[in-house]
Amino acid sequence: MGLLNLLLALAAVPSILGAVVSTSTPRPLVIWHGMGDSHASPGMVEFGEVIAEIHPGIFIHSVYIEEDQEEDRRAGFYGNVNEQVDFVAEQIANITELKDGFDAIGFSQGGQFLRAYVERYNSPPVHNLITFGSQHMGIIGISDIPTCRPWDLMCQAARRAAKSSVYSHWAQTNIVQAQYYRDPDRMDSYLASNKFLADINNEIPDTHNTTYAKNLAILNKLVLVLFSKDVTVVPKESSWFGSYAPSNETFPGDKKVIPMRMQELYLHDTIGLKRLDKGGGVVFRTCDGVHMQLTDDCWRPLVEEFVGGAVRGTPSLRIQV
Ligand SMILES: *[C@@H]1O[C@H](CO)[C@@H](O)[C@H](O)[C@H]1NC(C)=O
Ligand SMILES: *[C@@H]1O[C@H](CO)[C@@H](O)[C@H](O)[C@H]1NC(C)=O
Ligand SMILES: *[C@@H]1O[C@H](CO)[C@@H](O)[C@H](O)[C@H]1NC(C)=O
Repeated sequence: MGLLNLLLALAAVPSILGAVVSTSTPRPLVIWHGMGDSHASPGMVEFGEVIAEIHPGIFIHSVYIEEDQEEDRRAGFYGNVNEQVDFVAEQIANITELKDGFDAIGFSQGGQFLRAYVERYNSPPVHNLITFGSQHMGIIGISDIPTCRPWDLMCQAARRAAKSSVYSHWAQTNIVQAQYYRDPDRMDSYLASNKFLADINNEIPDTHNTTYAKNLAILNKLVLVLFSKDVTVVPKESSWFGSYAPSNETFPGDKKVIPMRMQELYLHDTIGLKRLDKGGGVVFRTCDGVHMQLTDDCWRPLVEEFVGGAVRGTPSLRIQV
């Protein structure tokens, strides 16, 4: 049991007066934090606590790569994303409370990592997946992301190396953000060297994994949240599976965004997104603000609607006392 789970277990002690008595258990929740954060940071703990107020009795697991806070934060910058997803899949499979399935919330890069879990594992299965400001079609600017702390010289050196050779084998297996860097003007390099995003998006010709499509298509809802003033994720429409079109040689400044329903991976339904969408399973939402500006107006309606539903087959009867 991680620190967050322990705190939530304490917070969930029922009070007699004014409590909402529920005969059903809310579906558990798994959260994958964003870059620069860690699994049990004060922000994550607080978020878990307010969710537990909305859905009393909910079990919440906050994903970690390292139990130590600082190490976990670093793992958001350094490491092999495929290995991290494997590790998290094993971590999730080890937790008895999650065995019948769960809803999942991914913050920023945590969103595409949880999507990788769904596509590659989904055992136990995810019911609703909500991603806030995630980079489903990658980013084009690593330099746009504030990452290294001023005193972290190793981090700065690594990022300089990553910027100059983002598609090098080293960057692609060691720098987390390089593993979802996708430059529409250098698709050949991306397809040849990227082993994470190009893989979960089934973009590499002749290596489509049909399991990915099968698993994504059976989500109940995929809720894609875009931040209206996001300048960290470029283009911000990546949160909605949008990406820039290749540069227009005649009008170099003219950047066009290809929306989800016009993406190759959608049109050919290589990851099950079209099937999911046709069945009403893709929900587009906008939150007002910059990247990860999680105001109450932004997250609360989503948590009320898509998190903590009654576990399948259990009647949901709530009695106000
Ligand atoms: C899962 O559980 C096994 C058996 O208890 C343990 O050896 C392993 O380290 C656990 N893995 C993770 C990722 O927590
Ligand atoms: C497709 O993905 C699944 C789940 O990760 C994996 O077990 C399988 O080996 C993959 N198939 C191919 C052909 O790579
Ligand atoms: C470049 O942009 C112009 C103006 O939007 C458009 O008419 C033209 O078709 C574009 N060219 C290409 C190759 O996309």
